[in-house]
Amino acid sequence: MKVVVLTGASDGIGAEMARQLARREQAGVALVLAARSADKLEAVAADCRACGAQALVQPTDVSRQDDCRALVDAAVDAFGRLDVLINNAGMSAHAPFEEVRDLGWYETLMRINFWGAVWCTHAALPHLQASRGRIAAVSSLAGLVGVPGRTAYSATKFAMNGFFESLRVELIPHGVSVTLAYPGVVATGIRYRGFNAAGEPAGRSGLDERGAMSPAACARLILDGVEQRRREVVMTTKGKLGRWLKLVAPRVVDRMALAALNRDAAPPSKARR
Ligand SMILES: NC(=O)c1ccc[n+]([C@@H]2O[C@H](COP(=O)([O-])OP(=O)(O)OC[C@H]3O[C@@H](n4cnc5c(N)ncnc54)[C@H](OP(=O)(O)O)[C@@H]3O)[C@@H](O)[C@H]2O)c1
Repeated sequence: MKVVVLTGASDGIGAEMARQLARREQAGVALVLAARSADKLEAVAADCRACGAQALVQPTDVSRQDDCRALVDAAVDAFGRLDVLINNAGMSAHAPFEEVRDLGWYETLMRINFWGAVWCTHAALPHLQASRGRIAAVSSLAGLVGVPGRTAYSATKFAMNGFFESLRVELIPHGVSVTLAYPGVVATGIRYRGFNAAGEPAGRSGLDERGAMSPAACARLILDGVEQRRREVVMTTKGKLGRWLKLVAPRVVDRMALAALNRDAAPPSKARR
């Protein structure tokens, strides 16, 4: 039986990945579901069990290293092995840098998006080496191209890329694959929950949400990439194009990034008042 640890499994893309894995693998998979909201995790676990999968709920705040260690320990204690770690938990943020007064939430965001993935991976590594397993890290197109208003978020995702690209090469002799996924705009609540300039939940999206990918389509692409041990899953044609265009015409990419902003969304932040 394949044992999968999935962070950020209570909502959005992560909850969708859990349900799809359960449908695909049925009794062949044990899912260890992690996030802070235990009640939402229980609801996802019930859906997974209904498909025949085993599911263990492990309330976890990935911004705490002890929680990350406890997550991996719980998985191995319950199922005796670990085959796949999907580092998906993440938070968003949208704020022009000049409007930010207190940078405390920049550190918080880095602990969740970057350190959370590093801590989970560190705890899981010996078990993944033993199973010649798979690691996935859910980055973002904002981790490939700098996006205005996303200095904090882009920094966390660029950091993830550097860490996991290096780790990928280190793990070649161990037979452990590392798949970096780069979603574009996916229709979840992440931007509404994300930090604004004052470090509070934004309550709105700072991006143009038209044409957003469904969480189901995004989850499917990530899971296929992990299954096939692909190095990367770059989503959307615009994302693929932007990546290569950045090498030959970086100013064009800057203008594409500016155009992605939702100018109608709301008045500017009052954080500086
Ligand atoms: N949606 C997009 O457009 C998009 C685009 C590019 C990349 N991504 C990336 O995809 C991943 C999933 O995003 P999503 O859109 O599915 O977001 P979402 O709907 O807001 O779900 C985020 C998940 O992460 C969990 N989480 C947040 N903070 C956590 C913490 N400190 N400890 C443990 N779990 C935590 C949340 O659960 P709790 O609140 O219960 O802890 C939730 O399960 C993120 O890494 C995000 O950066 C998303």
